[in-house]
Amino acid sequence: MTDIAQLQAEALGAIGAAASLDTVEAERVRLLGKQGQVTALLKTLGGMTPEQRQSEGPRINGLREAVSAAIAARKAALEGAALEARLAAERVDLSLPAPDTPRGSVHPVSQVMDELAEIFADMGFAVATGPEIEDDWHNFTALNIPETHPARAMHDTFYFPDPGSESAAGSKLLRTHTSPVQIRTMQSQQPPIRIIAPGRVYRSDSDATHTPMFHQIEGLVIDRGIHLGHLKWTLETFLKAFFERDDIVLRLRPSYFPFTEPSAEVDVGFTWTNGRRILGGSEGWMELLGSGMVHPRVIRACGLDPDEYSGFAFGVGVDRLAMLKYGMDDLRAFFDGDLRWLRHYGFAALDVPTLSGGVGA
Ligand code: PHE
Repeated sequence: MTDIAQLQAEALGAIGAAASLDTVEAERVRLLGKQGQVTALLKTLGGMTPEQRQSEGPRINGLREAVSAAIAARKAALEGAALEARLAAERVDLSLPAPDTPRGSVHPVSQVMDELAEIFADMGFAVATGPEIEDDWHNFTALNIPETHPARAMHDTFYFPDPGSESAAGSKLLRTHTSPVQIRTMQSQQPPIRIIAPGRVYRSDSDATHTPMFHQIEGLVIDRGIHLGHLKWTLETFLKAFFERDDIVLRLRPSYFPFTEPSAEVDVGFTWTNGRRILGGSEGWMELLGSGMVHPRVIRACGLDPDEYSGFAFGVGVDRLAMLKYGMDDLRAFFDGDLRWLRHYGFAALDVPTLSGGVGA
């Protein structure tokens, strides 16, 4: 039958001439769609005699296959051309300047506080906080610091004047250490207590190693049967993890704090390497932190029975820890907000401390 051959020639010609994917689709519908010409021919097979079907079947099916193949080929050719055109048009110029890298970095003090929280969390310590504007009782009295103690003198402490009072020194002050958080924690929690309390503290003092605001971290453990051995082990474990060295050596020197008895100043050993002090070993000693067994009077002031409970506490300068670990030498630079310093010493925002990675990695 010539009409099949004719239809095929006409169909393949139209498909080949289709200039867009839309036209190809229109051809597909015209030929192979529900009402399409080829479809109509296929439908006639049902009404034929078996003999007719035997001769016409292969011709009609051949037509359908030829049309389908032509449509697929034209579609592929047009899509390929479209892709080529896009690739040519959307070329990226790699010689253009890159977009700005993200700005801003994590301040070393924040980084070190995160490192400390990570290390102590692993030892079962929770993080506690307290107000920076404290009262005299939490900052001094409850910590067994008598009225006559030099730390109470105006020289060290920033006091707020009481409203209506002539005196410059009132009952509110900027906390001079994180130790009042010991008091607040013992008052609000039952033992066993294991907390660290990082935060800002204030003293009227300023030179290369002192700034009026600086950072401390307090540690407190209260339970039955806590002794000095627990304190030493905790500090050793913490400092080895923090400085990422196993050869950290500690020396506990008898000292005095009104709120601990006995009290110990903890020194950490260093070795001289190329004229620099490197922590580890014991060629020399550096003073690092204050600590001791919580004074029974402090435990009692918080409403706990010192015959039942004992504990240890320590306080350490966070800025000083950062200086020792990351090699800064002037404390004042921490608070200057100098972008060059921050770019040099700051940490990438995604540089989150983990114990498994080495906290400072
Ligand atoms: N609060 C003390 C200080 O600021 C440090 C300290 C804390 C000492 C806890 C002993 C126990 O110097």
